[in-house]
Amino acid sequence: MKVNFTETVLRDANQSLIATRLPIESFEGILETMDKAGYYSIECWGGATFDSCLRYLDEDPWERLRKIKKKCPGTKLQMLLRGQNLLGYKHYPDDVVRMFVKKSVENGIDIIRIFDALNDVRNIQTAVDETLKNGAVASGAISYTKSPIHNLESYVKLAKDMENMGCQTICIKDMAGIIGPKESYDLVKALKENVKVPIALHTHSTTGLAMLSLQKAVEAGCDIIDTAISSFSGGTSQAPTETVAYALEQEGYETGLDTKVLKQINDFFRPVKDEFVKSGMLNPVVLSTDTDALSYQIPGGMLSNLVAQLTAQNKMDKFEEVLLETPRVRKDLGYPPLVTPMSQMVGVQATANVLAGERYKNISKEIKAYIAGEYGKAPGEINPELQKKVLGDAEPLTCRFADTLEPQFDKAKAELGDRAKSDEDVLSYIAFPTQAEAFFRKREQKEKNTFKYSIRRID
Ligand code: CO
Repeated sequence: MKVNFTETVLRDANQSLIATRLPIESFEGILETMDKAGYYSIECWGGATFDSCLRYLDEDPWERLRKIKKKCPGTKLQMLLRGQNLLGYKHYPDDVVRMFVKKSVENGIDIIRIFDALNDVRNIQTAVDETLKNGAVASGAISYTKSPIHNLESYVKLAKDMENMGCQTICIKDMAGIIGPKESYDLVKALKENVKVPIALHTHSTTGLAMLSLQKAVEAGCDIIDTAISSFSGGTSQAPTETVAYALEQEGYETGLDTKVLKQINDFFRPVKDEFVKSGMLNPVVLSTDTDALSYQIPGGMLSNLVAQLTAQNKMDKFEEVLLETPRVRKDLGYPPLVTPMSQMVGVQATANVLAGERYKNISKEIKAYIAGEYGKAPGEINPELQKKVLGDAEPLTCRFADTLEPQFDKAKAELGDRAKSDEDVLSYIAFPTQAEAFFRKREQKEKNTFKYSIRRID
């Protein structure tokens, strides 16, 4: 049996270990080699890479994608997309979502993995539809979480909805690294029995479960797994590509990977990582195993946010109370998966409830918007008392929030005028206006300087 590998070093490993700070120059030299490794796909774009290019690296994210494509013509390039939120947190109108997906495929993306933080499939529908229209692979991703209302049955239903929508693969997306070996075996098995499309498992090494869970997932028939080249693996990143491939090959699985090429790739990335360790950008803490998420049943990243919040307010003595309040708030909200932005929203509200000495005395505007249905449909029932407190006699939205939004692309294009050199620029601006404008100004300055320089040379 063949197990397909998605290499995450350029996107998720980069994002999880060093806050997405890899500039293109740091990996451009290894791309042609990566193209020969035998990966099913290279996850290299989307997620936080787009924002980071504009905000920190002075790079045009679209240009980055075109460069990668040019050097990796033989491997599928993959991106992560947050459905109707694209690469940010707010909802965009359909015209923007469609244009973003179209341009992503035009510039080199072959597979778009699409998820919604609440698993509301209406929020991925437009992106899936446009991906298919443009001839790319649409992968529906399930935001994996644990709660009394999330079970094999609910996940199978979700996967079926995604398959009916046209998704060509289904991914179990365990961003917190909390799926255990038995859970991953049972879930993959249930999905394989109920949907026809290939199943992928995306998990993180955060709690140390990843390698066990990947192996059991493969035993249950998982078709695609996500791993990171070893120097960028472990901790909050993915399990190591070489190690997982080695183990699976011993068991007789075919991986399609070339061990010698993997070694070249790792030899290239090791000194890159060392530089980030030296500069302090890679904090060794993120490389260690953190099992707190297993005992508290809330993701590690969320725990550290809670500690930071309470420390800042000099209220660490309330930590235990906040830990008890967090699952209660989550229950009141209908058990949303504890992923961004819900993890922050639930954490902040639980802290507010404890510090005020009264539950929901102050309700954040994000929680109010959530209860009003602006993020999508809550997975379970929202506490009726809380809903009444926020909405009065009004009902939550029954349509998608995006349905209430006016088309935006043409307006933004007109607004930018000749500051935008392409439709891609307009999309960068819509996604991250301040960062994109600053980037356009710097780019123009650079072009002017080049021009002056060339005149001098003619002299
Ligand atoms: Co991830």
